[in-house]
Amino acid sequence: MSEKAELKVGDQTFELPIIEGTENEKAIDISKLRASSGLITIDPGFKNTGSTTSAITFLNGEQGILRYRGYAIEDLAEKASFLEVTYLLIYGELPNKEQYNKFTQEITHHTLIHEDIKNILDGFPSNSHPMGVLSSLVSSLTAFYPESLDPNRSSDEVDLSIKRLIAKMPTMAAWAYKNEIGHPANYPDNSLDYCSNFLKMMFAVPSAEYEVDPVIANALDKLLILHADHEQNCSTSTVRVVGSSHASLYASISAGISALWGPLHGGANQAVIEMLEAIKADGGDVAKYMAKAKDKNDPFRLMGFGHRVYKNFDPRAKIIKKAADDVLDKLGINDPILEIAKGLEEVALKDDYFVERKLYPNVDFYSGIIYRAIGIPTSMFTVMFALGRLPGWIAQWKEMRANNEPIGRPRQVYTGSNLTSFKSLDQR
Ligand code: CMC
Repeated sequence: MSEKAELKVGDQTFELPIIEGTENEKAIDISKLRASSGLITIDPGFKNTGSTTSAITFLNGEQGILRYRGYAIEDLAEKASFLEVTYLLIYGELPNKEQYNKFTQEITHHTLIHEDIKNILDGFPSNSHPMGVLSSLVSSLTAFYPESLDPNRSSDEVDLSIKRLIAKMPTMAAWAYKNEIGHPANYPDNSLDYCSNFLKMMFAVPSAEYEVDPVIANALDKLLILHADHEQNCSTSTVRVVGSSHASLYASISAGISALWGPLHGGANQAVIEMLEAIKADGGDVAKYMAKAKDKNDPFRLMGFGHRVYKNFDPRAKIIKKAADDVLDKLGINDPILEIAKGLEEVALKDDYFVERKLYPNVDFYSGIIYRAIGIPTSMFTVMFALGRLPGWIAQWKEMRANNEPIGRPRQVYTGSNLTSFKSLDQR
């Protein structure tokens, strides 16, 4: 007989099924609790609530494990390319050579974006934050591909929408940056791989030759892999919830980009560098900022520290820290910010406040340092995260549709006024 949980409320007992995942993780299924008891469960921030079952990413925060479709993040970051990982997440298996070549060709084929998107871009003031621009441009794809509005089309048609998005995101991201700095946009160069093409669109200027540095392209590829999926985080949950109303793929991903933007989520990579810069400008007094982070009356948090699920270490941060050292070494860069980051980490890891709360450096603590080293401007850091997270969002959206999941619609406990009699304006 399968295991059950019992919930006692007063003199009543309710039986609740327990479900178990492939890594022996268990969950109490409360989906029918209200029907039998009239009770709901409450869990602000969904700290202890599973919203779905999923076969895409396994994460064990206590042991610092992250796997995509069963493959360890350490192996993928070292041995795979970003497009292989993209294929793995979306189609469930690593591609063979033939599948990989076909997939790469298809992605390369769709890199160009409609010329009218430039008109939309021109409407944004220069200095616009590229995350806002990117989210708008992704949403605008619904206008250029109106057939994509229907998520119930054949799987081949949905697949075409998916490939278009993977192909066009780097173009839209680079153009958002060019708009920010008021430079002309570069068209994609389809002779280049995914990351090299993006770098060229970002950095080439009409007046000079631009050669992509393979050290930089490889570092970027690795960073994108490390960000490619992270199970039911804030932006991914957003993508699934928006998609659960049968909104289109492009509308759902655009919403995910907005969710990622906040400094508690993907926006942390920008916030980390801004924090490190501020500490440097303030004389490099690490202790002062540690005290601020611990002061409950001070809104300051140590950006790049802490994680909802990792309570031991973030395996991505380990890989990135090493990659940051390698990249800076290879490029011959000596960034004082890296020293401040290391100093801050060293102090925090020994500090009772951080130890008791299990706060460790997360993926964003060191990613900004590599982005800086490879020339990515700070305002584009979160866009880089979005580029990396795209295959995860798509895989999760696709899985949610394939499972025919119900519309995401939480309940609440109402704490407002009771029934109040209406008084007309002259009686108030
Ligand atoms: N600095 C100082 N105190 C912190 C920090 C921090 N960075 N993070 C958490 N705390 C404290 C928090 O004040 C609370 O203390 P207390 O128990 O005394 O009230 C305790 O630790 C638990 O924190 P929480 O906010 O309840 O935890 P959460 O799971 O809701 O938040 C988090 C997780 C990532 C939003 C949070 O740790 C944070 O704000 N970190 C800084 C922002 C950041 O680096 N975000 C990137 C996350 S990794 C990229 C991604 O996948 O999104």
